[in-house]
Amino acid sequence: MLEFKSNRIKNVCLIGFMGSGKSIIGKELSNKYNIDFIDTDKEIEKKVGKSINVIFSDYGENYFRNIEEEVCLDVIEHENCIISLGGGSVTNLKIRNIIKKNSYSIYLKVKKDIILKRLKNSQNRPLLKNGNKEKIIEELYNNRKKFYNEANLIIHNNYDKKEIISKIYSEINNL
Ligand code: S3P
Repeated sequence: MLEFKSNRIKNVCLIGFMGSGKSIIGKELSNKYNIDFIDTDKEIEKKVGKSINVIFSDYGENYFRNIEEEVCLDVIEHENCIISLGGGSVTNLKIRNIIKKNSYSIYLKVKKDIILKRLKNSQNRPLLKNGNKEKIIEELYNNRKKFYNEANLIIHNNYDKKEIISKIYSEINNL
């Protein structure tokens, strides 16, 4: 169980760029605490009944962002869970505000070159499909970093998974 001294905190939100390891770290943390793990992209897919790729290609990014807002505002109200948010969700002010209101947020920070390596062959990141991946990543990253940096905790996720988990664990336990 997650127990925070502050009554404000209901859950833990993992934020960060695509390929920063939010889902992997989130699952590990939820196993460690024996609590639920929610991946907002999976919730969006369930709600629409289509994959993220198909949602983008059939309806476009604006449609996706609207559903993302609905899903995030809903799941961030949940208590005692680890939530992994899609990389672009924090560009939405309402989502940022509810994270600040309810959650302990952790930014998994990864160097751009590592992100590029991890996403080079990714087939399920629609924003990276058309054009030069490096340029797109650079631009998105630069636009978003100010939002990622608003997190309560910033962890560099360039290294060993176990090390990251134990760092986060000790930070959370000391809150
Ligand atoms: C997006 C990130 C993806 C997914 C969608 C858009 C983004 O999630 O929500 O493809 O705008 O950065 P991950 O961060 O889990 O890859």
